[in-house]
Amino acid sequence: MNVFGLIDIPVWILLIFFILSLAIVYITSTHGMLRAAGVPGPPPGIFGIVNEYNKKGVGQTDLDLVKQYGRLVGIYHVRVPILLVADVDIVKEICVKEFPRYTNRVVMLPNDEVNQLSVGNARDEDWKFTRSLLSSSFSSGKIKRMIPLIESCIQTLLKNIKNKAETGEEFEMKRFMSNFTLDVICSVAFGIDIDSQNDPNNPYVRNALTAINISFRSPVMILCFLFPFMKDIFEKMGMTFLDRKSQNFFVEQTSKVIKEKIQDPKKRDDILQLMINVKEESQQNESYSVGGVHKVFTDLHIISNSITFLIAGFETTSNTLSFISYLLATHPELQDKMVQELDYFAGEGEITNDNLFKLHYMDRFISETLRMYPPAIRTNREVSEDTEIAGHKIPRGTEINIAIYAIHHDPEYWNDPETFDPDRFLPDRMGPNPSCFLPFGIGPRNCIGMRLALTEMKVALVSILRQYRFVTSPSTQIPLVLAKNEVMLMAEKGIWLKIQAR
Ligand code: HEM
Repeated sequence: MNVFGLIDIPVWILLIFFILSLAIVYITSTHGMLRAAGVPGPPPGIFGIVNEYNKKGVGQTDLDLVKQYGRLVGIYHVRVPILLVADVDIVKEICVKEFPRYTNRVVMLPNDEVNQLSVGNARDEDWKFTRSLLSSSFSSGKIKRMIPLIESCIQTLLKNIKNKAETGEEFEMKRFMSNFTLDVICSVAFGIDIDSQNDPNNPYVRNALTAINISFRSPVMILCFLFPFMKDIFEKMGMTFLDRKSQNFFVEQTSKVIKEKIQDPKKRDDILQLMINVKEESQQNESYSVGGVHKVFTDLHIISNSITFLIAGFETTSNTLSFISYLLATHPELQDKMVQELDYFAGEGEITNDNLFKLHYMDRFISETLRMYPPAIRTNREVSEDTEIAGHKIPRGTEINIAIYAIHHDPEYWNDPETFDPDRFLPDRMGPNPSCFLPFGIGPRNCIGMRLALTEMKVALVSILRQYRFVTSPSTQIPLVLAKNEVMLMAEKGIWLKIQAR
């Protein structure tokens, strides 16, 4: 084709040029929004901040943004405007004081009728209904009764550790701890005992690993990221962010286990059983309602939430355990201190909630690990109505990201934040604002599994350190380099250590 009588350009090139131009206009059409609201931030370019994540990782990107623009920054995920908040007073305002205006999380990925029922994805009244029914299953009294289930998974872990200690080989902690946390979550959330380390072909193990392997590089994810309206289209097509086969596996198996449990007079103290109890109560009690209409907690609610507990609770906990083991191995004098304390209060015999409660140094060590390496780098909320945040007019629907990692590494909030110092959590040294520490989020929509995770990690540490010590090995990376392309915080090359008998 002769364009303007100057050069011959094939029609298909013109067409591509036209489509690209349209895409660029579409993507950049939102890019003035946060600037118009007076929120400082980097120029969005075409793809927004996404390139920075690839170069530096999300945590470092946030630290750099805060340094350059302050604790309230306007960024873009391609065309989606995001208010990044690293100011703890504003975080408290959003997540606690003005919670009704920010109840929901932004869910970017397609959900179906199963995963819409989960407490992590539910919105507004549905979330309140689900969260209020589930909360009692995670109370300290209920978690205390799950210690024997966790201990039984520990026996498998100890058997596997014994082999490693005997051969003296180094091994990757995150994978190793994942086997344990997967066994625990299958036991408490699905009512099933597995040994994922020695039985990798067990269908629960295979499907759990597929289910949690959510790739942010899959075409569905990329399309939702570039064009958020695609989420609705995918949902109409019945697609979901979870692997369909794995989801079907859990739906079928858990339905079976629920039926068996209802008929079995012996009740296990697991979360699945507690959810079955909730279902029965909700059927009988008219006060379970949404918008004044009686609502029942169904089998599908139970299944959806069991899957959510797997996704939310398995890697977060194994990551933290692997960071803890790294910090113990690289700080042997602090490991001695932890061992001394547990020898004194929990040296032998059954592990109980009472002796776990006395392990204050272990508590501080876990907290400091979660401060330095919070598995969730950010969490998010959605603005439900036009509002004002720190004097900026923010429209309804805007996504807010709470910069957990950046807050945990902010020198204004933490003295010498890059130094690992568990004693900074001593009651008389804990800074004036406890909201600076939010590895489990903050406010009514914080992590429902926090007590379970902490108990699970303490039981694991007591059991391991009664007999063994973590030591560095030739492949231990010092200092630790964090992975850049992961949504969750993890070590770039894994955490390689050895375990020695004491
Ligand atoms: C070290 C381990 C864990 C960490 C660091 C962690 C961290 C978090 C964070 C940061 C959030 C978002 C909170 C917010 O938006 O304010 C969250 C939510 C959640 N977590 Fe955890 N988590 C852990 C373990 C667990 C476990 C073991 C379970 C379940 C068995 C679990 C289940 C959930 C659920 C269901 C939510 C969504 C709650 C809601 O929307 O109401 N987490 N977690």
